[in-house]
Amino acid sequence: MTTLEDYLEKNADRIDRMINRYFGGVHGDLFRASAHLLLAGGKRLRPAVFMLAADAVKRGSSDDLLPAALALELTHNFTLIHDDIMDEDASRRGVPTVHTVWGEPTAILAGDVLYAKAFEFICLSDAADISKVRATTMLARTCTEICEGQSMDIAFETRRDVSEAEYLDMVSKKTGALYGASAAIGGILAGANPIQADALYQFGVNSGIAFQIQDDLIDLYASSEKSGKDQASDIREGKQTLIAIKAREKGLDLSSYRRKLTGAEIADVITLLEDAGIMDEIRAIAVGRAAMAKKALSVLPDSEEKRLLGEIADFFIDRSF
Ligand code: IPE
Ligand code: IPE
Ligand code: MG
Ligand code: MG
Ligand code: MG
Repeated sequence: MTTLEDYLEKNADRIDRMINRYFGGVHGDLFRASAHLLLAGGKRLRPAVFMLAADAVKRGSSDDLLPAALALELTHNFTLIHDDIMDEDASRRGVPTVHTVWGEPTAILAGDVLYAKAFEFICLSDAADISKVRATTMLARTCTEICEGQSMDIAFETRRDVSEAEYLDMVSKKTGALYGASAAIGGILAGANPIQADALYQFGVNSGIAFQIQDDLIDLYASSEKSGKDQASDIREGKQTLIAIKAREKGLDLSSYRRKLTGAEIADVITLLEDAGIMDEIRAIAVGRAAMAKKALSVLPDSEEKRLLGEIADFFIDRSF
């Protein structure tokens, strides 16, 4: 029986090898900027969801679909490059962000290059043309949804009345949609029927919401050495995460912390929030979404891959980076 840890490691190796092949030897500022984050590592979780979904629909099908798995990682990296500009972050995957090295204009273009390449790689996979049309349509719609989610994320920074429901809508778009697409596109290219494809999409969106709630906790708790990203960036930027929303409900206003914080100040904020009992409430919401994700898998036949998909939803809320 394969453990999730082993599966993720082996899958990441396959994706890393492809990335090295296609992006390892690129020349010139624009293409080096495009390859920068891809070559810096990353957990490769969207390709893992893609491959497991494909094999849960038809065992062995993922071998022909590696370029499409890479397409999901390329889409993710496009959003990361642009997200770091929007969030004014200096580190990601333990390296300087693309715009801090090459400047914002080149970083915008580097993201655009990956966005375009994602569609090219979907078409390179060995699947029926009709499935590839459905897959590219879904990826295109997903990219629009991510933009909408990111736009809401930015608009919320200047509001003090964002509700939990609005937060969930925002993260289902900025993060859930790409996990939904990863699972559903994997299934579609493997020949899933519409009921299976829809269930995989629901699995991905709900586990992606849970993933983002955990990301918001990691943003506060994890040192930059551990996460590879700027610590407490969300509080600095006034992001309306569940942490900020629940804090406000309890009469705690985080807006006085809207600046670069010292380690001691971050520790103070954590104590304040924990004393208010906020963290347990947030954890319960993430656990609920992971449960919804796992429930959606019930339409699929039992298999090793289905089990690993269920485990990935739990891993999303147990991970510490
Ligand atoms: C970070 O995603 C962006 C979010 C949606 C929160 P990951 O945590 O999957 O980042 P990498 O790919 O492992 O660097
Ligand atoms: C990122 O949300 C979502 C997308 C990149 C679309 P965050 O802004 O929280 O992601 P990190 O924490 O910078 O990775
Ligand atoms: Mg960010
Ligand atoms: Mg962001
Ligand atoms: Mg974050």
